[in-house]
Amino acid sequence: MARTPIIFGNWKLNKSSIETAEFMSNLAKVLPKLENKVEVGLAPVMTCLTHAISAKNDAPIQVAAQDMHWLEHGAFTGTVSAQHIKELGCTHVLIGHSERRQLFGETDGRVSDKVRLAFDTGLTPIACVGENLTQRESGQAEDIVLRQVDAFVQRLTADEVKELVIAYEPIWAIGTGQTATPEDANQMHRAIRESIRVKFEDAADDVRIQYGGSVKPANAKALLAQAHIDGALVGGASLKVEDFMGILSAC
Ligand code: PGA
Repeated sequence: MARTPIIFGNWKLNKSSIETAEFMSNLAKVLPKLENKVEVGLAPVMTCLTHAISAKNDAPIQVAAQDMHWLEHGAFTGTVSAQHIKELGCTHVLIGHSERRQLFGETDGRVSDKVRLAFDTGLTPIACVGENLTQRESGQAEDIVLRQVDAFVQRLTADEVKELVIAYEPIWAIGTGQTATPEDANQMHRAIRESIRVKFEDAADDVRIQYGGSVKPANAKALLAQAHIDGALVGGASLKVEDFMGILSAC
């Protein structure tokens, strides 16, 4: 089963609008070296999305928002909806990143509502899952992750599952310099795919599962060589064009 690798950068709360535009045009210049072998995207700060979209011009770089509200409209001061993101020209949206879950109290239920609404609005969700260190050390990692996945997958159709992107990001590996070994990550990715197969026999082979957590040019190749690792969600190493290109070239 050939799944096109998908690599996204998650800039979190980094880069001004000017820096965003500069990065986009610089990346657009070097991207042809990859000959379209990998799907590439970036998730800048919300207010920089339009700068990203105009600066990339027609280069094959997808632009994602880092979050959205779980409802279409209403009395929700300070947030944006899926439709707003879509209107800007975004194609993807990160949902349920562990920082959203940990720092902003997002539950599996909310994550599932957002994944559902993203599809209803014509956006591709990159749904993030992952266990913390205590859960890993107590042998619960797989149960936790599969429960997180089931919360949103159960509300999708087979066609949506084929489009879905999941990012497995063990929390203890995010921004710490510690990565899961390629074999351990692959084992979790396989478990995720097999859990989806229970309900979606064929579509399970099309779901793309990114690994995230301290991915760098130096470790990307070994991770991406694993059978069930279909790409990466990259934080720190997506902030410099050379580092990000190093990861993209590993595909
Ligand atoms: P990191 O972040 O690559 O800096 O560990 C990954 C993420 O949070 O998506």
